[in-house]
Amino acid sequence: MRIFLTGASGLVGAAFARAAARRGHAVTGIVGGFTGELPGLAARRSLDLGDESAVTAALLEVFPDAIVNCAAISVPETCDADPARAQTLNVALPTVLARLAHHLSARLVHISSEQVFDGSRTSSYAIGDATSPINLYGRQKIESERAVQAQATEFAVTLRAPLLMGNSPGGKRSTHERLFADWAAGRPVKLYADEFRQTCTAENLAEVILELCERRDVRGVCHWAGAELLSRYELGRRIRTHFKLSETEAPISAITRAETPEAAKKRQACLALDLAPLYGLLKTQPQTIEAQIAELHVPATSRDWYFSRQ
Ligand SMILES: NC(=O)c1ccc[n+]([C@@H]2O[C@H](COP(=O)([O-])OP(=O)(O)OC[C@H]3O[C@@H](n4cnc5c(N)ncnc54)[C@H](OP(=O)(O)O)[C@@H]3O)[C@@H](O)[C@H]2O)c1
Repeated sequence: MRIFLTGASGLVGAAFARAAARRGHAVTGIVGGFTGELPGLAARRSLDLGDESAVTAALLEVFPDAIVNCAAISVPETCDADPARAQTLNVALPTVLARLAHHLSARLVHISSEQVFDGSRTSSYAIGDATSPINLYGRQKIESERAVQAQATEFAVTLRAPLLMGNSPGGKRSTHERLFADWAAGRPVKLYADEFRQTCTAENLAEVILELCERRDVRGVCHWAGAELLSRYELGRRIRTHFKLSETEAPISAITRAETPEAAKKRQACLALDLAPLYGLLKTQPQTIEAQIAELHVPATSRDWYFSRQ
């Protein structure tokens, strides 16, 4: 299969490129500013994905069987800092890709987020549940879901993903990589003991995306996540234990949402996803936290700190 991949240098895109190459697909990966190595790509283009005509030209040149959209402004605070840029990447880009997918009869897999929900309940959110975003990022993700489905009803699937673990090309994007960066720099790490997430790894999500490239019968919005719900604080503690770091070397303080009422307004307390109908339909299985943590590497950017510890 010829696959056009945006966000090839991101946490999910890079994992997808590796997984697709293992399965013999030819992936053309679009990157922005990243210049490091990216295994798995048959071809690589550096492009501003905010430039609609450049995106259209690059895509028509590849004439793909499938388009995988992993590009985004994926950090809520970055969306708040530059809403117009976030709107271009998070909404306008998927809209253009969906229109092109429709014209080419190409499969489109677009990635959305658990943050379309407000996280105010403790039971799982199902795909039919009403969305209720509490931040700009979540609102943009819903807008993208609607645009993608409107433009490419017969070709598109949108996958809502949870907080991600995994190993990113730059070593700075995923949950454990951010923790390592803080520990190495001596910055205090405060994690919420009352915020719960159903994490999965980018590598596991990539396997799901790959299956969805091949399963054109699956359309509309779907959910994917891990097999367990855990607080951010407990997740941090488990990561620390896995890497055999002590409490002194890698301190973590537990905080609660009540201690940070302003920040809590834009943060979801509990995001649990019901994986129907994908669970059972795909070969890929949701992973336990233990299995996710076992896949993590010491980030390249923190190696000196980690291996020079006494
Ligand atoms: N990370 C999470 O925890 C998480 C959770 C749920 C859902 N998601 C969603 O999953 C998808 C993938 O997220 P991710 O974490 O892999 O994202 P990421 O690591 O932040 O990567 C973003 C990608 O977008 C590219 N990009 C951004 N602006 C660009 C531009 N103007 N032109 C070209 N490329 C541009 C970046 O390229 P360069 O770096 O080369 O500039 C990078 O490859 C996104 O839709 C995100 O919203 C992520």
